[in-house]
Amino acid sequence: MAKTSTQTAPSTEHFYLTTPIYYVNARPHLGHAYSTIVCDAIARRKRALGIDTRFLTGTDEHGQKIERSARLAGKTPQEFADVIAGEFRALWDRLGLSYDDFIRTTEPRHIRGVQKLFATLRDKGYIYKSTYTGQYCVSDEAYVDGPPGTICPTCGRVTETVSEENYFFKLSAFERKLLQFYEANPNFMQPESTRREVISFVRSGLKDLSVSRTSFSWGIPVPGDEKHVVYVWLDALANYITALGYGSDDPAEQKKFEKFWPADLHLIGKEISRFHCVYWPAFLMAAGIPLPKSIRANGWLLFDDAKMSKSLGNIVRAETIDEVLGADALRYFLLREIPFGQDGSFTFDALVRRYNGDLANGYGNLVSRVVNMMHKFFGGVVPETGAAIEAETALRAAAERAINEFGPAFDEFNFSEALKGLWTLVAEADGYLTANAPWKKPTERSDADHTALQARVLATAAEAIRIATALIYPILPVSAAKVWQQLGLGEIQDAAKQAFLTNLQWGGLKAGTKFGEPAPLFPRAEKDAIDRMQNLENENNASAVDAAAGNKIVAPTPAAEPVKFAEVPKPEAPAEKPAPAAPAAVPAAVPQTAAAPEAQSAPQQLVEEKQFITIDDFVKVDLRVAQILVAERIPKADKLLRLEVDLGYEKRQILAGIAAYYEPEKLIGRKIVIVANLAPRKMRGLESNGMLLAASLPDNPDSTPVLAGFLEDVPLGARLK
Ligand code: MSP
Repeated sequence: MAKTSTQTAPSTEHFYLTTPIYYVNARPHLGHAYSTIVCDAIARRKRALGIDTRFLTGTDEHGQKIERSARLAGKTPQEFADVIAGEFRALWDRLGLSYDDFIRTTEPRHIRGVQKLFATLRDKGYIYKSTYTGQYCVSDEAYVDGPPGTICPTCGRVTETVSEENYFFKLSAFERKLLQFYEANPNFMQPESTRREVISFVRSGLKDLSVSRTSFSWGIPVPGDEKHVVYVWLDALANYITALGYGSDDPAEQKKFEKFWPADLHLIGKEISRFHCVYWPAFLMAAGIPLPKSIRANGWLLFDDAKMSKSLGNIVRAETIDEVLGADALRYFLLREIPFGQDGSFTFDALVRRYNGDLANGYGNLVSRVVNMMHKFFGGVVPETGAAIEAETALRAAAERAINEFGPAFDEFNFSEALKGLWTLVAEADGYLTANAPWKKPTERSDADHTALQARVLATAAEAIRIATALIYPILPVSAAKVWQQLGLGEIQDAAKQAFLTNLQWGGLKAGTKFGEPAPLFPRAEKDAIDRMQNLENENNASAVDAAAGNKIVAPTPAAEPVKFAEVPKPEAPAEKPAPAAPAAVPAAVPQTAAAPEAQSAPQQLVEEKQFITIDDFVKVDLRVAQILVAERIPKADKLLRLEVDLGYEKRQILAGIAAYYEPEKLIGRKIVIVANLAPRKMRGLESNGMLLAASLPDNPDSTPVLAGFLEDVPLGARLK
């Protein structure tokens, strides 16, 4: 135990870093990609420094939230988890993320390790059985203090009342030890805001923590008492050690654990700091396992002023940005635009502005100018300049400043500052080229002098590019690799392995180096780039939500008014090709467009029949009783209210055009009727997953619409038929 309460000095030859493991109830979006990209950049830099690095990511697959999502999709939790975990992994591969291991909490190696940890905690007397009655937030899988109806402080959803016989972990026994540990290790958790928040949480008193559940079964059975499953956060946090072989009998696995544990860095989102900075160290102290060396919390990526998240429906997918601008553009934007630790807004406009400004017109243009001129004037071979390059003191000084400042800023998580500084080198190199204009020979300059100037200027600018590229590699790995080739320096991965990217000194680009072929790096994004990204997102939205819910993906029906009786054109004379035969009956639920050939040539009688629907059509509409949990106005939208409703089996967001008639607070708690299977729609950047029913008074369209409801009490989720 003594070992747990002192922090070991950061290791120099190993570095083990982890992302949070992602819940598989939703497909990956930019918010998830953010943490993973930051870890990837750090891992690449550590490897380039010659440090034996291990980068772990994975998926968090157990718990009530996943069980419910799976049920809703008509799948088993395992089938459901398999699909989404596969998507996370495929996305990380598509983005070229260099993780060394991807752990899934449903894997046997993890289950074995969690059971060992649970048994160890119990054997050491830190786990006991008792009854828990209280509030639980399923979305955050967290216990919340307060009476029934308490709102979860993290996500704002209404908590559920749970009353179960559970196993409890003696968290209260660690209050003092944790505070002492934080005091002795000021860098254990950062940023400062996280540290303060965690310390004040612990100081306010720790209660014992329920670490098992019996009311559902999708989890890891408690060893020896299988009707309990292990609390999902105890299960999830253990991934950081089970992925290293904790709980395995295999000596090779045990060696891995000994080599890499304790972790050097857990990178997490700020909302999960309590789990990582309080529960996790307490579990480890209790089990006699050393504590991780540092925990860093990142802020949130916001879209339309709210945390990007599935439940708000305001997500953007990394695939879209990769497709239009490339993964490097996304990496650069996230690390340059958002000061690490703070929240940052994502907009397509800002992304394209940064891309064009810094990458296309900045670094990309500089490389292209120099590589092309080297080919044009020196056949692509770096010329001999003697000591001339030494005379370029200003650019050399800028490069040396970059060498000295980039690494420390990066290692302090000041990615944005590190990049800003590096881009002054890019700008200086650009200005240097422009000032010397090696492409233009003034008449008074002799040919020999001009060639000497070209040689000096191009060799110097190329050297500045080499240094900028070596430094930028962890953030722009794909582009840096291309530039390295163009500079004739071979595979950048090899250079990274030999620490050539971090052991930098001015003058490393030798005369005689044969440049590679010029190749475009960051083609300028034209006006349509934003539209393309937005369209990709819109197209994906409806189908993604449908697919996640296990529904068949149907091509969107063209938005058009159904053909009205009076507007039906008379059958026309047969065209050259006979029109398709009119269908015997047209399902009324499918709107017919004015352009549909069947509708245009349909005899009147058929169209009249379309005014009725059959019972089969009606049952397609899933009308359900729901209760309003949250109602609020949407900034800059006069008509819309954002509602979170509880359907009993699921909570979801819908947007309703009733802001002019209802005060949001008065709606909370009301039971309403919603169309539950309406295709999701985005309005004001938020997703609406359903529609509430209300009667509008026919004679006065401006009067308050009356919300459909019941006189009797009806259970949530009840279907109207
Ligand atoms: N499964 C838990 C973590 C267990 S770790 C032992 C979990 N999963 S999560 O999928 O909800 O979130 C995973 C990480 O993604 C968190 O760090 C979270 O902060 C991050 N992000 C999810 N949406 C985000 C943004 N919009 N912005 C930045 N990061 C966010 O919590």
